[in-house]
Formats: sequence, structure tokens, C-alpha cells
Amino acid sequence: MVLKDLRGYIRILEDAGFLKRLSKPLSTKYEVSSVLKKYNGKKAVFASVKGFEMNVVGNLCCSKEFIAKGLDIEPNQLIHQFIHASQFPIEPKVFNNGPSQEVENENVDLNRELPILTHYEHDRGPYITSSIIIAKDPETHRANASYHRMLLTGKKRLAARLVEGRNLHAFYQKSKSIKKPLEAAVIIGAPLELLLAAAMSYGDISELTLAGGLMKNPLELVKCKTINIEVPRRAEIVLEGHLLLEKEKEGPFVDITGSYDVVREQPIFEVEMLTRQEDALYQALLSGGLEHQLLMGTPKEAQIYDKVKNVSAVKELSLTQAGSNWLDVVISIKKRHQQEPYLTALAAIAAHYSLKRVVIVDEDIDVNNLLMVEKAILERAHPVEDFFVLKNIKGSTLDKSGIRSDNIVLPPAKIVIDATIKDQREFFERGKIP
Ligand SMILES: Cc1cc2nc3c(=O)[nH]c(=O)nc-3n(C[C@H](O)[C@H](O)[C@H](O)COP(=O)(O)O)c2cc1C
Repeated sequence: MVLKDLRGYIRILEDAGFLKRLSKPLSTKYEVSSVLKKYNGKKAVFASVKGFEMNVVGNLCCSKEFIAKGLDIEPNQLIHQFIHASQFPIEPKVFNNGPSQEVENENVDLNRELPILTHYEHDRGPYITSSIIIAKDPETHRANASYHRMLLTGKKRLAARLVEGRNLHAFYQKSKSIKKPLEAAVIIGAPLELLLAAAMSYGDISELTLAGGLMKNPLELVKCKTINIEVPRRAEIVLEGHLLLEKEKEGPFVDITGSYDVVREQPIFEVEMLTRQEDALYQALLSGGLEHQLLMGTPKEAQIYDKVKNVSAVKELSLTQAGSNWLDVVISIKKRHQQEPYLTALAAIAAHYSLKRVVIVDEDIDVNNLLMVEKAILERAHPVEDFFVLKNIKGSTLDKSGIRSDNIVLPPAKIVIDATIKDQREFFERGKIP
């Protein structure tokens, strides 16, 4: 199956009963975000917005079941589909025109043109949160696509959060060193395969080819009108422009854990031209919601699985919702020797250094059942022998537990829990009623 655009995915969600259409127009300030929160993990949402012609869709990837439906696979195959895409990426195909350029607007006022939402109480202002930025490495010209939240700061201006060390940040630094703004295109409403691929990170492999690998078909692109960047030809909305050398304050804004990220000076994106489909849909995405967490976490699950399968017979793994699909992983293994759980945990950390906790369980434990996992920890892990604290090891900036009084910040640390049965399996056998 080839989806080609977001609309095809929305139709699939609606046919499966996963879409909620709201009849009453909503305000961009808090009302859309509160509806997204209400249906978080339960339904995708389609709504009209007060003061705008453009309709809003959201929560599109807030459940693994939704994403799997879009890819025409079972949810437990998702990890394998991601691994497959990384092993067999497919080059995109460039076309001369496409629906994403049905309307062209050089005289943009973002305040009027797009229903940009204000999500939470203390946000600095309205933010675009589904924004995928496509830019090229100034040296190699390789195209990169990644998510970057964008704060509306003027008619044509948005402040983009570029996390240090990520590809787009590296490209920006390179163009800054030669004192040139970086050409970039912002995609709002990308096809499903790019919504997923833009959260993947495989070194030098372009996300545009990973998107092809996910759908087993080339991603269709079209050349931008004002810059040398190619964008999905069936995107809903495209903002063509530049990341300027100039910066502005960005944040506070709610991040993946649901709490506030701090204020930073971040690069300004200036819009040159807006192109869109005639009846474009605006994609909303609730920061700190399940969609944010699943988009970030699912590709990481694939990368963890790919590493740990080299050291143990992995049955299943899950980045837990308690850890915002980012900080905490439970891995079930068919244990062959006593050192295997610890080795498995180290391999998981090598694949994803942001992990704060790694729990290894036996294959009879369902990694998605947190109560069952807690019971395994309490019944099968010994407090002295089976809890391993790793100190002074790179961790996630999202983990704020090391912040103490008087400006003291403890160095990051991790915990590994071996919750497998060590011996005497009969002591753990569950009673059965014949
Ligand atoms: C919903 C969502 C929002 C994100 N927001 C940001 C952001 O504001 N800034 C950022 O640098 N990364 C953000 N990310 C993460 C990047 O998209 C992701 O880490 C990507 O893999 C970067 O990879 P790259 O450096 O290989 O291009 C976000 C991811 C998701 C799924």
C-alpha cells in the first residue's frame, strides 16, 4: 500500500473508527490543545477553528495502533519496519509540480494565514509543533528532515528550537561560520512516512530516504519555488525561507515529559514564501502528549532492539509511558546465562544514552504491563545484588532529578534492574486453579 499524503492516512483512521470530528469551531488559544489532551491516545481529532478557514487535524500518531494501521502492519511489527527502513532506505523521486504548490503566497502574515495554537498556560506564545524542517548540509548537500518546534514571533518570523548536536544544528553552525543564512523549508502536514522518518536518526542516512524505506516506495518531492530544497509534493503547507544568523528568545514551552523547557536564544526562521494545497489542513500536535512521545520513542525502540539482539535473545521491549517513551525501557529476554541481563542493559544504553532506567525481565513478563513489571521487580530482583547504579554517565537533559538547592546539579546516573529469576524457578510459579 502507498499512502502518498496525510489525507490518505486520515481516511484510513476514519474508516477504522479512530477519528473524532468535532462540530463546534474551537479557539486556537487553549481550546484545540485541551481537545487534543482529552482524546490523547484515544482518537485523532478533526476540527474547525474560530477565525480561520483552515481546518485542524491532530493526535494523528497518538497510538501505535493508528500508526500501524497507516503502514498496514500489526503494532508489534513497527520496530521491524523501522529497522527495515534503516537497512533499505529508498531515494526520493522529484516531480515538476505537486498539490503542495496549488497556492503561492509571497506576502505572508502567519498570524492570519495559519491557525497556530497556544497550547499551555505558561507558553511564551503560539507554537507550530508538527513542523518538520528540511535543510541541506552546506558541505555535502545531503538533505535532512527533523522536527523543530517553532514560536511565532512576527508576521514572517518564527524562533526554531534546534537541539545542540542534532543534524540541523550542525548545518546551522556550518552556515553560521561562513556568515550565511541557511536555506530551509518547514513542512506542516507531511505524509505519514515522513512524520515517522523525521523522528529517526541514522547518522548520514537522509530521512527522506528513510521515509521511502518505511513505505517501500520513493517519497515524492517537488522543488521549492524560492530555495534549493525539495519538499513532499503532497504536503499540506510549506514555508520556504531561511534560518537567519539572528536569534530571539524561545520558551518556556512544554517538552516531551509534560513539564516546561527553559528559555533560550534560538535562531529565527524567516518566511520567503508560503505554498499550500487549496484546502490545506493544519496539523496540530500536542507537545508532551502521547503522539510526541510515540514519535520520539518508537524509532528509538527499534534502535535499542537492533543493538540488544546481538547480546541476548530478546523477546520484546517497550519504552514505558511512565518514562515518557524516552527515559525508561523494559526488555524481556529468554535468559541463557546469568550475565546476560546486565550485558543487555549496557547494549540498550549504548543505543540510547538518554535512558535513566533499564529493567530486564524474563520472557513470561509482558513488557507493556507495568503492574506485571513492578511485580517482577519486587519478587525477582534482590536489593543488593540485582540493582546496579551507573554513575557519571551521559544522561538526558530531560531528567531534572539531579537539581538540588544552592545551584548544585548532580552528575547524571542510571539504574539497571535485573528482574529475572536467578534460580529455583519453582518458587515463582503462579498458582493455577484446575
Ligand atoms: C514531535 C517532536 C518534536 C520535536 N521537537 C524538536 C525540537 O524542537 N528541536 C529538536 O532539535 N528536535 C526535536 N525533535 C527531535 C528530532 O526531530 C529528532 O531527534 C530527530 O531524530 C533529529 O535527528 P537528526 O539530528 O538525525 O536530524 C522532536 C521530535 C518530535 C517527534
